[in-house]
Amino acid sequence: MKIFSGSSNRPLAEKIAEKLNLKVSELEIHVFADGEKRVRVIDRVVDEQCIVVQPTSPPADSNYMELFFIIDALKRSGAKKITAVIPYLGYQRQDHIFRDGEAVSLEVVVETLQSTGVSKIITFDLHSIKIPELFKVQLTHLSALPLFAERIKSFGFRDSDFVLVSPDMGGIRRIKEVSKLKGGMTFAVVNKDRDLATGEVEAVDLEGNVKGKTAIIIDDMISTGKTIAEASKLLIERGAKKVLVFATHPVFSDDASKNLQNSPVEKVIVCDTIDVPTEKKFKKLEIVSVANLIAKNLK
Ligand code: R5P
Repeated sequence: MKIFSGSSNRPLAEKIAEKLNLKVSELEIHVFADGEKRVRVIDRVVDEQCIVVQPTSPPADSNYMELFFIIDALKRSGAKKITAVIPYLGYQRQDHIFRDGEAVSLEVVVETLQSTGVSKIITFDLHSIKIPELFKVQLTHLSALPLFAERIKSFGFRDSDFVLVSPDMGGIRRIKEVSKLKGGMTFAVVNKDRDLATGEVEAVDLEGNVKGKTAIIIDDMISTGKTIAEASKLLIERGAKKVLVFATHPVFSDDASKNLQNSPVEKVIVCDTIDVPTEKKFKKLEIVSVANLIAKNLK
């Protein structure tokens, strides 16, 4: 087995490799002056089972292209089986038509990915349960929720001291799952409004009681941080003692770090499905690794 890394999350590839007693194999990724990339496999991969780690986080287009080229280069160099570890799948929020005339962007990238000859895909916490249906190749859909349930346990709260919160209606499924893992915790749901044209977010109402409790928001991803900022303000307004956040994917676009650091949230716990560069790290941030879960799946 050989493991390769694209340029989007080398630290995660190295952690996975270490857990598999491997070293990340050599790959040449050259960027031309015009931005085009040229990929070349250096190691011998004939008849090998190859793993490529490459979340398609921002810049999603460039990271997808790089992934396609790496898979193609491995295939042309004789690899027997190619597993793409894409912990964060870019374009996953564009999985259907929201307004007339739109493209289904996720379908386009998934079809292109499958046309490269990839044999298997491993990913984490997809935005909707319908997304796996788009894949014809073998897809392993892992979840960070059990890691979150463990971390919540480590806080040592009494169950009656806290309440799980979904920051929008779409996240109820996740909350129910964590609630089940925690033996039936109570939960509340924020009713969020998003302007589909501008992306602006407003937390309009709350279903459930958070008064005097520690509210634990669970979400699949944080992009601009506005959903979390809005939801946490509402939770404090409605009497929550403090707010903690768990989100699998730290997309952290625009001013996300500032929005989160300046929000009433006490702690933001995310996974390393996406590499968070030093300049985007902030005081309240904690990162837990999914490397072990991925390595176990690859063994
Ligand atoms: C929305 O349905 C998702 O689960 C996230 O809540 C959302 O994508 C986060 O985006 P942002 O951080 O930009 O508000």
